[in-house]
Amino acid sequence: MAKLAQMPRAPLLVLLLMLGLRDTVRASFPSLAFRVYPFDESRVAGLISTSIRGALDRPLNYARSYLATTLPACVRRVVYLDSDVVVTDDIAALAATPLPGEAAVAAPEYCGANFTAYFTPGFWASRALSEAAFAGRRACYFNTGVMVLDLPRWRRAGYTAQIEEWMELQRRVRIYELGSLPPFLLVFAGRIAAVDHRWNQHGLGGDNYRGLCRGLHAGAVSLLHWSGKGKPWDRLDAGKPCPLDAVWAKYDLLRPAAAIETS
Ligand SMILES: *[C@@H]1O[C@H](CO)[C@@H](O)[C@H](O)[C@H]1NC(C)=O
Repeated sequence: MAKLAQMPRAPLLVLLLMLGLRDTVRASFPSLAFRVYPFDESRVAGLISTSIRGALDRPLNYARSYLATTLPACVRRVVYLDSDVVVTDDIAALAATPLPGEAAVAAPEYCGANFTAYFTPGFWASRALSEAAFAGRRACYFNTGVMVLDLPRWRRAGYTAQIEEWMELQRRVRIYELGSLPPFLLVFAGRIAAVDHRWNQHGLGGDNYRGLCRGLHAGAVSLLHWSGKGKPWDRLDAGKPCPLDAVWAKYDLLRPAAAIETS
């Protein structure tokens, strides 16, 4: 976010955040043009199933599925970023990602990841479900924390309704264990435009085991993502940071000691 503030006449930054952050953002980036669009949590009432991680069950996690209707119709392209990322490059390059054909989503893709693990054995056992879901596609994992979205295509294809259909099924038959990610994989895996991996150095939150830190993957870094169970703000508050949490601390708007570059 600090880098955004340095861009002269930055494109309108859209934030789907808790409203308390409005003043914090304004105070930290006085010249930044931004608008806050609150997410109507009633949109997902009755749709969220309990996941294996309580933090994933909060309605705001599902706001990314509703951008096409939360934002005005004139908004055509969105760069969606989770709140646990730090961008260290010019985000205009990510925003300019080509989306060929009818692709509505662009994101770094990981065909080496174990795709099977994101769904339950029951899902894979039901050929009616799993074969129909991924018929004719080479489904690969992607992380939904960093995405470029084409909203006109999203609206035309009715992707929000497709995501909701999978969420409704999940409430009757357990087909996955995580929160908002699996429905995205069900609708979009194998149909996304690929983005260079430098735009999502994910997993920095560490493993599910306490105190286990993760390092960067090989290659260039344009965005660091503390995805996973552990979060840098918790570790910093507890005085037990991982080495890379020092990068987070530098940009954390809510830490009094944070040294934010605003000029
Ligand atoms: C992929 O994940 C599934 C389900 O967790 C597991 O049974 C399988 O052994 C994994 N495959 C590899 C190659 O790790």
